[in-house]
Amino acid sequence: MHSIRFRIMAFLALLLVLLLVLLNIYPVIYSRDAVFQEKHSSMSSQAAQLAAAVSGLERLNQAGIAEVLSFFDLSGYDRVAVVDTTGAVLYDSTDAVLDTEDIGRALDGRTVFRSSFTEAAFRSSLAMPLSDQGERTGAVYLQELDTERAEGIWTVQRHLRTVSLTIGAAALVIGGLFVLLITRRIEALVDSMRAVAGGDYRYRHLIRGQDEISELGRELNQLTERLETNEAERRRFVADASHELKTPLASIRLLSDSIVQSDGMDCETMREFVADIGDEAKRLQRTTEKLLTLSRLDNEVNYIPEPVDLKQAALDALTLLRPLAQEKGVRLCSELREGCVVMGSRDDMDHILSNLIENAIKYNVPGGSVLVRVEAGEDRVSLSVEDTGIGIPEADRPSIFDRFYRVDKARSREAGGSGLGLSIVHDAVLAHGGSITVKPNKPQGTVFAVQFPRPTSEETGI
Ligand SMILES: Nc1ncnc2c1ncn2[C@@H]1O[C@H](COP(=O)(O)OP(=O)(O)O)[C@@H](O)[C@H]1O
Ligand SMILES: [Mg+2]
Repeated sequence: MHSIRFRIMAFLALLLVLLLVLLNIYPVIYSRDAVFQEKHSSMSSQAAQLAAAVSGLERLNQAGIAEVLSFFDLSGYDRVAVVDTTGAVLYDSTDAVLDTEDIGRALDGRTVFRSSFTEAAFRSSLAMPLSDQGERTGAVYLQELDTERAEGIWTVQRHLRTVSLTIGAAALVIGGLFVLLITRRIEALVDSMRAVAGGDYRYRHLIRGQDEISELGRELNQLTERLETNEAERRRFVADASHELKTPLASIRLLSDSIVQSDGMDCETMREFVADIGDEAKRLQRTTEKLLTLSRLDNEVNYIPEPVDLKQAALDALTLLRPLAQEKGVRLCSELREGCVVMGSRDDMDHILSNLIENAIKYNVPGGSVLVRVEAGEDRVSLSVEDTGIGIPEADRPSIFDRFYRVDKARSREAGGSGLGLSIVHDAVLAHGGSITVKPNKPQGTVFAVQFPRPTSEETGI
């Protein structure tokens, strides 16, 4: 459960250990090597000077060498020795046993330098061949014990260790606190998500600060809000739908009950009652068909769009609705341009056109007119339905596309409306990437304007 916290802390600790190890090893190695180099060069040049001075002697012996060496400052060396070609000691500043191995090599003509570094000191030695006019005459041997440099290095090392351990511990503590703080906030976020997942859509995550985690919280809140709205919409839809279905069903029951209960009802009345039952059944059928259309539009994800000519679709819709217009005494006019093709489903275009034109006829006045316009712009295809009817009050306009919304319930019901027509139009337009607006017509009436994206000739294949 706390794996993120654990992993970050483990990573931090590993990094610190690595840093500490590096800090405690590398500087010592580096300074040790620097001292080795320095010793090598200073001892080499010292030995070369000694060799040059000693070679100048006519005879190599203890006294002669001692005299020559007295001109040099050899206080830094623990031991200075000179041997002849056989390895016999000619001069030695101490009387301990000499390292014959290195001297042996020097007598073979090679300069041998050695240096070692221990807790206490740098121990260095150098053996160098002596020659006089190209002839080997012996070897000179220098030895040095340097405790000062060793002490210096170890002191620096001790300080480094203390400082790095302190900083490391502090970093671990601060890092731990920081990680704890972050994981606490993530846990709080997870708790909020659980609450929302449990169905509490009124829950809001408490947001502090401006960082990524707060951003997550804000997104969660937005998501919850959307869920809350959706849930409320769903509830309202179910309630509205049940109500819408309940009314005709209640009428049907009432009518059938009256037929059953009244003995000796005359044939004419019964026929009237049955016709009414039929009307109510038709209303139910219309409503359920529209509900099915809406639910299909909701789920329409992977249908294959085809080119639909809006002019043809509009002509067909006008032909279908002409009887209704005649019945209402409304004149149908149209301005339909060629080449107004959109990509989509012909069925949906029919729904859009027939619902808009039907409304324009139904909510019109006798002697009024309806104008259907279809035209193509640069990158849009537009469709508009204008009427000279009763108009839609400004207050109702924002809700006009809601399911079951009707401005005048009585009038709409009388006209056989369900309040679902414009929802279908709206959803179908959106499903085709279009947009729809509603505004008042002058001097009276309503204008519905729909815009679709204009497909390229590549898309339509025309
Ligand atoms: N062209 C219009 N003129 C006036 N009112 C309209 C027009 N179109 C729609 N309305 C109003 O919007 C409501 C919703 O329309 P719609 O969704 O098609 O439902 P209905 O089934 O009632 O026609 C209608 O009841 C009506 O009050
Ligand atoms: Mg309608």
